[in-house]
Amino acid sequence: MNSSKVRQEFLNFFKQRGHQIVPSSSLIPTDPSVLFTTAGMQQFKEYFLGKPSSYGKRVTSCQKCFRTSDIEEVGNNRHLTFLEMLGNFSFGDYFKEGAIKYAMEFLVDVLEIKKERLWITVFKGIEKPQIIPKDLESEEVWQILGIPKTRIFEFGMEENFWGPTGEEGPCGPTTEIHYDLTGRACKKGRKCIPNCDCGRFVELWNLVFNEYYQSPKKELSSLKQKGVDTGMGLERLAMVVQGKSSVYEADLFEPIIKEIEKISSISYKLKAKNYRIIADHIKGAVFLISEGIFPSNVERGYILRRILRRIIRHGRVLNLQKNFSIPLAKKVIEIYQDIYPEVRSKETDILTVIQNEEEKFEKTLEKGLKIFEKVAAKGDISGIDAFHLFDTYGFPIELTQELAKEKKLKVDVKGFKEAFERHREISRAGMEKKFGGVGKEAGYQAAKLHTATHLLQAALREILGQSVKQMGSDINPQRLRFDFSHPQKMTDEEIKKVEDLVNQKIKEDLKIKKEEMKYEEAIKSGALAFFKEKYPEIVTVYSINNFSKEICAGPHVKRTSELGKFKIVKEEGLGAGLRRIRAILE
Ligand code: SER
Repeated sequence: MNSSKVRQEFLNFFKQRGHQIVPSSSLIPTDPSVLFTTAGMQQFKEYFLGKPSSYGKRVTSCQKCFRTSDIEEVGNNRHLTFLEMLGNFSFGDYFKEGAIKYAMEFLVDVLEIKKERLWITVFKGIEKPQIIPKDLESEEVWQILGIPKTRIFEFGMEENFWGPTGEEGPCGPTTEIHYDLTGRACKKGRKCIPNCDCGRFVELWNLVFNEYYQSPKKELSSLKQKGVDTGMGLERLAMVVQGKSSVYEADLFEPIIKEIEKISSISYKLKAKNYRIIADHIKGAVFLISEGIFPSNVERGYILRRILRRIIRHGRVLNLQKNFSIPLAKKVIEIYQDIYPEVRSKETDILTVIQNEEEKFEKTLEKGLKIFEKVAAKGDISGIDAFHLFDTYGFPIELTQELAKEKKLKVDVKGFKEAFERHREISRAGMEKKFGGVGKEAGYQAAKLHTATHLLQAALREILGQSVKQMGSDINPQRLRFDFSHPQKMTDEEIKKVEDLVNQKIKEDLKIKKEEMKYEEAIKSGALAFFKEKYPEIVTVYSINNFSKEICAGPHVKRTSELGKFKIVKEEGLGAGLRRIRAILE
């Protein structure tokens, strides 16, 4: 059975049992304390806490997830960064017995997975720091359904207690279904049981029984209503259903692996791990970019950069040629376009971002690797060297660590962080000097005012006439200042009209478009240039719909709605035919 069918069967199964099918939410969660959506329950978090669900008490979904926690594991037969999680949820409706029965029925009756291959784990209970009792009920239900006690194992908090995501939220004991891929114990013999890391078992389905609420202080209290949150990775399920021994051989990955094989001189058999890392990460990158994330040095953008650069590094090991990621990204789009149309509609962005990052990193990778070899020859990698690799050659610290690990060397991560902080202090001081503000925040504030300046100029030209010309401009994080040619003082009515027009454009939430073109072409197309400036042959042009178009070096914000409210605080004369406006964003 192919993955599309498995996905559909799952959703239908639960629909027929009174669950409403809810579409996947974005990979960027609304909860600001977490970077990515890592579980299906996230979009339903408040329903577990008692808020009435807008979808009813039973829902089911197939959720896009991105997990950074497993990046290091990627390359084995089952861990991934991007995955789809199938889930069914009950908010104060059925509980342990219902959830376990559904799970068993779906796996054994619908998908015809052999019951003998299913092994179970349950929560064994703890006494400290507070008592959480052992989950006897689940154990009993499993036995009634025909799983012998010899295939049921008890684990503690680490393995069989889930949540919360972020700072606080619902959580509770779990029971997990593990699938026995090989039927053979590793050298641990009888100790080769679920959670053994030999690859024999794969955790297939996690059933979470949300009975508790964990506060930001990590204290547990009982929830008013009990809930069920289950999650099963579609890729793993596809592997089991299709009788494969790794997720990469099943149909959500096989086409990508095949595509790499086409362009590599080294076979998958020989270098499976490198193949798998590339295949997993390219998928992750496609989905992250489709959600509007761009490579950067912070937060989500950093994760994207890290996986893109790792792809390039592993591509080198496989002798892949320049821009090899492009056909792979196209394969990912092909696989998912019907289920997640955003990967198709954002195709141009996706391919451009990947190509740019690849070209940028390729330039420094080669040199950086040479430097790495040199410092590695001396032994463990110092913080300063790791920072140098990061700062000059764009090596994410994790990449340096990975390279070091391959040589059985260590990296002084603490020293790296110290060097990083020192560097940040220096650039922040520079930034403050420029804007009189506080680093990154100041930069963003300046970008907003910069965009506001463009809107202001366009509005002045529309209200006062096309003879208005920019004569000067100055921005600090508190305000913008704009000097322009105009023969007389503006009336109150004119000021109001200009203000209103700028605010209207802000409300329209317009996209700020950035293009590069020849200077002549820019002028011909109507872009405004500031006469005092000398321009290079190729210039950057920022346009906001057909309202504003200027040659400008930036930076600007992405959309006008980011500006908030625009207000002119002063209009004054500077001499014959010259006026000055000071304005702020509230
Ligand atoms: N929230 C649980 C998990 O992510 C079950 O959905 O594993």
